[in-house]
Amino acid sequence: MQDKTSSLRETFKELIGRVNSSEEIEKLRVEFLGKKGHIASLMSQLKTVPNEEKKAFGQSVNELKQKIEQQLAEAHEKIVKLEEQRQINAAEDYDVSLPMNIEMGSYHPITVIQREVEEIFRTMGFTIEDFSEIVDDYNCFEAVNIPKYHPARDMQDTYYLDNGQLLKTHTSAAQNSIMRKYGAPLRAVFPGRCFRNESTDACHENTFFQMEGIMIDEDISISNLIYFMKTMLSEVFGQDVTVRLRPGFFPFVEPGFELDIQCLICGGEGCPSCKNSGWLELCPCGMIHPNVLKYGGIDSEKYTGFAFGLGLTRLAMMKYGVKDIRVFNSGNLKALSQFIGK
Ligand code: PHE
Repeated sequence: MQDKTSSLRETFKELIGRVNSSEEIEKLRVEFLGKKGHIASLMSQLKTVPNEEKKAFGQSVNELKQKIEQQLAEAHEKIVKLEEQRQINAAEDYDVSLPMNIEMGSYHPITVIQREVEEIFRTMGFTIEDFSEIVDDYNCFEAVNIPKYHPARDMQDTYYLDNGQLLKTHTSAAQNSIMRKYGAPLRAVFPGRCFRNESTDACHENTFFQMEGIMIDEDISISNLIYFMKTMLSEVFGQDVTVRLRPGFFPFVEPGFELDIQCLICGGEGCPSCKNSGWLELCPCGMIHPNVLKYGGIDSEKYTGFAFGLGLTRLAMMKYGVKDIRVFNSGNLKALSQFIGK
């Protein structure tokens, strides 16, 4: 009988030396100390032990039991520490102070939305045009009916170069060149980066993106404008959007409008996103002023057209729920890479 306890002791010693996790310790505990474990089975053999040996046998089984309990506890303590260390080591793979793993690049959210809108207009027969960021006073202002000293220039203060050129304040700066390049009829969208002398805050940036669109043909009317805007916005937001026009002043359109969309969050009921008005201002637009057509070499008696200036940055904020406009130019990859696959 004594042999049994000592062989069990040896087996346990060997097994406990090999455990590597708290689960393995628990398994060992059940195997040895559980209701149907080795110790219990030894105890059940007590009745078969001759009376004179009962005491010694009982004692040695008890000792073994205590020893096993103690060793299990010690091993458990060690393993828990080890496991903690393993966790810490694993966690060290993520270090906020390390540069991002940018092997898997992502498009900038503005690029994503720009391409999406381009694609929508492409399917509606519009060409996509590129235009420089540095322009002259004529293209940015005079060609779009904003003469020198016109008060409308106040709203579009910008950055001037020594040679008198400037960073374009709106994509309308490309209207004249594009009209001259293609003549009428014409359907074109032209995205671009724009600059204004703004103090920045969550809603204002000195650098932002717009997408201008113009459609010029015989008999183009405000209904065409509404149709194209509504179709495009419904595609972008993946649901039917309700739009409304309010009068707005821009020297290069007549009549001019502010196009609002019904708030997609509250459905027009009023909520913090739409400042309780139920509407969100999205896109200034209007019928191209005859002067602008004339400057662009287009017969304003024969042709009419509409123009809009979609705020791409603003659209991206709305679509992705970005609360602070400054994120877009921040270079903060943690924020910007969230658009992977969008
Ligand atoms: N260019 C105007 C702006 O940036 C927007 C606009 C474009 C308005 C086209 C009407 C028509 O403020």
